[in-house]
Amino acid sequence: MKKLVSIVHVLFILGVTGPREGHSQSIETELDARVMDFLQSQRQNWRDWNVSYDDGRLLYDIIIKNGYTRALEIGTSTGHSSIWIAWALSKTGGRLITLEINADRHARAVENFRLAGLSDYIDAQLGDAHQIVKRLPGPFDFVFSDADKAWYKQYFIDLYPKLQPGGCFTAHNVRNAYGGIKDFLDYIREQSDMQTTIDKTSRSGISISYKKQ
Ligand SMILES: C[S@@+](CC[C@H](N)C(=O)[O-])C[C@H]1O[C@@H](n2cnc3c(N)ncnc32)[C@H](O)[C@@H]1O
Repeated sequence: MKKLVSIVHVLFILGVTGPREGHSQSIETELDARVMDFLQSQRQNWRDWNVSYDDGRLLYDIIIKNGYTRALEIGTSTGHSSIWIAWALSKTGGRLITLEINADRHARAVENFRLAGLSDYIDAQLGDAHQIVKRLPGPFDFVFSDADKAWYKQYFIDLYPKLQPGGCFTAHNVRNAYGGIKDFLDYIREQSDMQTTIDKTSRSGISISYKKQ
């Protein structure tokens, strides 16, 4: 089993990660190994409306591909998506703010961030995102919206001025577009400087909207 894990490590690291300028290979590899161990060990254990492993990987890829550094997540739960986002940010030199209203899930997320070795890359805030999002100054270049679906449109309205040109606003569970999800998708598609696609590889559906440069 141990041998299998190390092979997975090597493949993962060769395929996904690269040494960031100014950071030694050994530090980076140590963190990669720790995050991967954590993600593998918890893969079947996420029970709190967390994203799937593949959806987490998709968020990771978007951040790496675009070199994003200023990320916001709405809806931490116990931290699965945050870990993928923060892992990517550990390579781009960025940091994540993540918001959760439930004290128990927030506390478990904070512990998971520690276990994954990513605490330094995450500012986990406990409170109501309806208010916090309005207060956060930004700017952000990556947003992941995964809390109350009825508020998706309002989150986007509040964050739109704080989203940098070239930045990306993503939202989870958009496959069945009705109610708040439909209102959000209709609204974001009306914005002439936002280009929206729905990732079909995700079983839940993730909308990916880039703000034009
Ligand atoms: C679908 S889960 C998030 C899953 C998480 N992104 C993951 O993949 O691990 C949604 C979370 O949003 C939180 N939430 C709902 N409304 C909220 C609000 N107004 N402010 C902050 N968090 C909220 C819920 O308590 C829940 O834990």
